[in-house]
Amino acid sequence: MQVAQRIKNLPPYLFAELDRKISKGKKADRDVITFGMGDPDLPTPGHIIEACCEAAKKPENYRYPSYEGMPEFRSAVAERCRRDFNLKFDPRKEVIALIGSKEGIHNINFAFVEKGDVVLYPDPGYPVYKTGALFAGGEPFAMPLSKENNFLPDLEVVPKQKIKKAKLLWINYPNNPTAAIADKAFYEEVVDLAADNEIVVCSDEAYSAVAFDGYKAPCFLEVKGAREVGIVFDSLSKTYNMTGWRIGFACGSAEIIEALGKVKTNVDSGVSQIIQEAAIAALLGSQDCVKQNIRIYQERRDVLSAV
Ligand SMILES: Cc1ncc(COP(=O)(O)O)c(C=O)c1O
Repeated sequence: MQVAQRIKNLPPYLFAELDRKISKGKKADRDVITFGMGDPDLPTPGHIIEACCEAAKKPENYRYPSYEGMPEFRSAVAERCRRDFNLKFDPRKEVIALIGSKEGIHNINFAFVEKGDVVLYPDPGYPVYKTGALFAGGEPFAMPLSKENNFLPDLEVVPKQKIKKAKLLWINYPNNPTAAIADKAFYEEVVDLAADNEIVVCSDEAYSAVAFDGYKAPCFLEVKGAREVGIVFDSLSKTYNMTGWRIGFACGSAEIIEALGKVKTNVDSGVSQIIQEAAIAALLGSQDCVKQNIRIYQERRDVLSAV
């Protein structure tokens, strides 16, 4: 049996490799602390689980969900954007539900990347930025994150011919794995580059809520002009300890959301409505559980940084 060349060309998925190493260590009775995937070890808050149980009793939720997400879920996302950043989105056109943000991060390539197009991505970074580009026949181009540049990509040093051929540019703040943050001045620089070169900016904000010492991360879309050139990917995974539930969303430019939606209608059948109802409870319910989470992470951070 011959697997396709595109599979042969792929590097092994980093986190699958790490999982393999972790279970090898555990089998050998070693005390393993995993610094692999950001998979919260704390439970999903009770009120979210209750909303899920209630939703599971409703026969209308046993049928296929809508491709873009329930209007109530998309409205809940828009409401949170209004509350958190004073950003107003049309939930019908500017918000889409994702089966975890990973799904959208992969699929966006099929909406914008032609064979040979460049995808600019941060290195180190979430592996799907690169592999998504490869799947779509694009040419991933790594933008190094260095301590000297505060773990922000230096856009000035990206070769002009790569910028000319670029279709997507990935940014990710608060950053995984460096924990760096970005300010609005950096986002303005990104908007200028994208607007001048017709590049779609994909801001992965999966860790938007994981911030310490009272810091609140800005949203890329708060910056002037950002809504014309980009979208934000966000997730309930890290904020509400819901990695196993598989729900996230993208919001921003209606044109980009529509293109992503078109790919998705041909690839998947949406997020279970049972999960969407639980996610609505997460987004619109009390946020004390998030504060509690952050307190615990901050304590752990303090222990680690004191070592
Ligand atoms: C930076 C970053 N973005 C996106 C994701 C995807 O998260 P999910 O698909 O659970 O929403 C992850 C998961 O670890 C991540 O680390």
